[in-house]
Order: sequence, then structure tokens, then C-alpha cells
Amino acid sequence: MADTNEVIDGGLEILKYPNPVLKKKSEEVTVFDEDLAKFVQDLYAAMRAHDGVGLAAPQVGVLKKIAVVEYNGSSYVLINPRVIDQKGIQDGEEGCLSFPGIYAHVTRPEWVKIAAQDEKGEVHEYEASGYTARAFLHEMDHLTGKVFIDYLSSLKRNAIKKKVAKNTGGHF
Ligand code: NI
Repeated sequence: MADTNEVIDGGLEILKYPNPVLKKKSEEVTVFDEDLAKFVQDLYAAMRAHDGVGLAAPQVGVLKKIAVVEYNGSSYVLINPRVIDQKGIQDGEEGCLSFPGIYAHVTRPEWVKIAAQDEKGEVHEYEASGYTARAFLHEMDHLTGKVFIDYLSSLKRNAIKKKVAKNTGGHF
């Protein structure tokens, strides 16, 4: 146990599936203030503390359209993000901080162009391919109440649900 009270995870608890909050739709962000900037920093801290490449606000119980992605040395604040364009198909393994130890193959577009606001409200456009595109789309799904196992066949999805229940000792 650490002998200091230093908060390295932003003080945020990451909700695990099947927490019902993960299935809810988030609201648009309309106020760009210091509280928002602080929350974005806390999200980054929580994501890094859990070795994630992305984290969305609903995963910490906040139903607002806010997510962060950090991969290959690049960091992105995605507030009110939307897809402008997408191309191609990629098939790859995906995980989620709300599903510890669970990985599954998910098919997604190979390339995306998105628009998102930063914590100051400025709009940015980002083009990404491969794993970064996958991370953008995965986090944006969280903002509409969608999780990655929703893309799987019901057979695979049920197998994961059973595994989660076994891990947590919980019921559905
Ligand atoms: Ni996730």
C-alpha cells in the first residue's frame, strides 16, 4: 500500500459492465469552464492510471459527451465529437476499461475524419486510421450508450456476459 495520499487516478472510479450507466446516452457539453478543464485532466489521469488508450465520461458516471484518447504519443480531447467521414474496414482486437480482461475482435472503419471540441470549446478536425481510428470510434460509442460487445454475435456476447458474471460473482 502506498504511504501517501497522492491521487494518481484523478479520483475517478471506472464503472464496470454491466453497470446500467454504460448503456445511457450522454448529453452535449454547453459550458466550457474550469470545472470542465479539471474533469478532462482527471479523465486523463484515470485513463493513464489504468493503462488505457481512451476513456469516456460515462465510464466514470458522468453522462456528458466527453472522452479522451491517448495513443502513440498523441493525445486528443473529444468533446461533442461527431464523425464527418469514414472509409474502409479494419478487423482487430479491442478491449475496454469497463471490461477488465475481456478482448474481442471488432470490425470498424479503417479511417475516420471527426470533429470535436476541446475543453475551451474550440472545434478541431482529426483524421485517423488504424488503432487511433478504432479508439476514436470506441470512445464515441460510449457517448451513445454503446459498448464494444454490442458488435459481437449474441453467442459471443453471451459468452462474455457469463465470463464477466463469473469474474465478479454478480448476476444480470
Ligand atoms: Ni471502452
